[in-house]
Amino acid sequence: MKLSGKVALITGSGSGIGKAAALLFAKEGASIAVSDINLSSAEQATEAIKQLGGRAIAIRADVSDAGDVDMMVDKVIKELGGIHILVNNAGIPGENLPTIESSVEHWDKVVRVNLRGTYLCSRRSGQWMVSNKAGKVLNIASIVGLAGFVARASYGPAKAGIVNLTQTLAVEWAKYNINVNCIAPGFVMTPLDGDLIRSGRLNLELIEKRIPLGHRAQPDDIAKAALFLVSDDARYITGVTLPVDGGWLAYGDVCAK
Ligand code: NAI
Repeated sequence: MKLSGKVALITGSGSGIGKAAALLFAKEGASIAVSDINLSSAEQATEAIKQLGGRAIAIRADVSDAGDVDMMVDKVIKELGGIHILVNNAGIPGENLPTIESSVEHWDKVVRVNLRGTYLCSRRSGQWMVSNKAGKVLNIASIVGLAGFVARASYGPAKAGIVNLTQTLAVEWAKYNINVNCIAPGFVMTPLDGDLIRSGRLNLELIEKRIPLGHRAQPDDIAKAALFLVSDDARYITGVTLPVDGGWLAYGDVCAK
């Protein structure tokens, strides 16, 4: 098992990618703090881990609220004995409107949850990791933070900020034996984009045509890359953003069949 004896705090792990990572890390021997703004989904994921024979606690916390983050981290340290792994996964999508029609309130909310949330959780968990001279931080950004996407003027910049925060913390904390990395998923089958697809703000057919591997990712595809990056197999990797996108960013051809 790759994570025996480790404690992993995964934000937003009541659903989607975070839940898949929580289940996979638990199978690899980690104790899991399942944290989410939605307590009942966190409790359900915790129950699923316990049914696999794993150890987990559920915590309700809003990652954009500094008080909630302090409470969450204190609880993990008290009840599970430390924080060896932090996955900053909690996130919300943008409203996918043309920028001139978008709202400032939505910009603030998207930046607060995605970017400020990643900063707050890293800062607070980093205090424990720095004093223990060990840790793995994994951020979840997006391909939308690595290129220009139409109508994503809040989500894209928030995710791009996470990519730079990854580099900043990686160089600042390297001397404490803390690895900080990031995954930029492409399009993943989770509830996150569901509303945008149902309302027609994202076109599923066009998306799948544009992906060289021909289909969206399953949450587990992201979780498996996450496991690698938080394990000792990746001990010499820090400060990188790994696209897990079915080849989306590599694709430059719109002409040939
Ligand atoms: P999801 O909607 O299934 O899960 C996100 C979880 O975060 C939910 O359980 C939600 O309750 C929680 N959450 C939302 N706001 C929160 C807050 N303020 N505090 C704590 N928890 C909060 O979405 P999914 O797809 O699993 O997304 C996970 C991460 O992956 C997000 O950061 C998202 O931006 C990113 N991502 C997702 C992609 C996709 O296609 N689904 C593509 C690229 C990145």
